Amino acid sequence: MPRRRPRLAPVALPPDPEAAELTGPLFGPAAAGPLDADLTRQHAGRPLGEPVTVSGRVRDRRGRPVRGQLVEIWQANAAGRYAHPADRNPAPLDPNFTGTGRCLTDGEGRYRFTTVRPGAYPVDGVRWRPSHIHFSLFGTAFAQRLVTQMYFPGDPLLDRDGIHHAVRDPAARARLIATGDPVRGYVWDVVLDGPCATWTEGSR
Ligand SMILES: [Fe+2]
Repeated sequence: MPRRRPRLAPVALPPDPEAAELTGPLFGPAAAGPLDADLTRQHAGRPLGEPVTVSGRVRDRRGRPVRGQLVEIWQANAAGRYAHPADRNPAPLDPNFTGTGRCLTDGEGRYRFTTVRPGAYPVDGVRWRPSHIHFSLFGTAFAQRLVTQMYFPGDPLLDRDGIHHAVRDPAARARLIATGDPVRGYVWDVVLDGPCATWTEGSR
């Protein structure tokens, strides 16, 4: 069974948070091009699968929008296969789908991606992961990077997913599931901190 935790000890960061503010990268408009947020148009043809949009707002604990935030996503293709050499799933790759995207939040903290719904994939001979999209948000400083996963509503595999249920608080677990409707597509908001903060990998 492959280990899912880091093999190396954490690197200690400077105790002064301002040091991270000053030395971390700053993301401006050049950090993401217009096609970076449309995962269906990054190749010559269209990818297989169900086209979907995923959008939402990034806010802080007071509900204030977090503007200019670099939001990155990565996901499996519609068959449940990552375009990554470490993925041993025998499901086919899609030559028209890489599965990575990025964008900056706008003045109201909004992000938006166009992609295809990722397929479920097997973890071992018995268990399958539900459809999900990995998210990374860089916060306002390099040391604040948050990594988490977004799920799709009504997915029957959610109830049996060990990673989703590693989030022990049912309310926090529910906040990882997007809402969806035919007009707005899938909508998923992220709260960076506070009591309603979005669960991130490394938090409990
Ligand atoms: Fe995944």
